[in-house]
Amino acid sequence: MARLHIRTYGDDVLRKKTKYIKTYDRKLLQLIEDMFDFMYEAGGIGLAAPQVGISRKLIVVDTFEEGEKFALANPKIIWESDEILAMKEGCLSIPGVEGEVLRSRKIKVKYNDPETGVELTMEASDLLARVIAHETDHLNGVLFVDHLHESEFAQISRKLQELAAA
Ligand code: NI
Repeated sequence: MARLHIRTYGDDVLRKKTKYIKTYDRKLLQLIEDMFDFMYEAGGIGLAAPQVGISRKLIVVDTFEEGEKFALANPKIIWESDEILAMKEGCLSIPGVEGEVLRSRKIKVKYNDPETGVELTMEASDLLARVIAHETDHLNGVLFVDHLHESEFAQISRKLQELAAA
C-alpha cells in the first residue's frame, strides 16, 4: 500500500481546484483502497484526495451506517433541499478545530462510478449528505471553516494561524 500523508491547514493543495478523473483503472481503485485505509486509521468518516496531496476529484465516505460507504469520482451536487441543518464539523486537515456548519439536509449528487466510469446520481440525507458536501467542498478548495459564522470563526482564527505556521 502506498503511504499517504495528511495535508493540513495552510498547505496550498487544500485551496487548489482539482482535476477531473478521466481514467478508470486499477491505479484509481488502489488509490481508493489506500484512502479508505488512511481514513479508517485516522478515525474519519470522509476523505477527499487533496487532503492526501492528490489534486483530483475523488472522495471516499463511510458513515458506518448500513449502505453508506461510497467512493465517488467527480462528485457534483446538483440539488440541495431548502431544509437546512446545523451540525458540528471537524476535518482531518484541521486537527483540533470544530465548528457548527449549516448545510442542506438532503442533496442530489452526480458522480462517476470509479470502477466503470459510468455517470450516476444518488440522493443522500442527514449525516451522509453532510459528509459528501464537506468532501465535495474540498475538491473546490473550500474548507468547513469557510462556512462558519463570523463570531465562531473569530474564536478559532488563532488556532488556524498556528496550524498554518506549523
Ligand atoms: Ni475535511
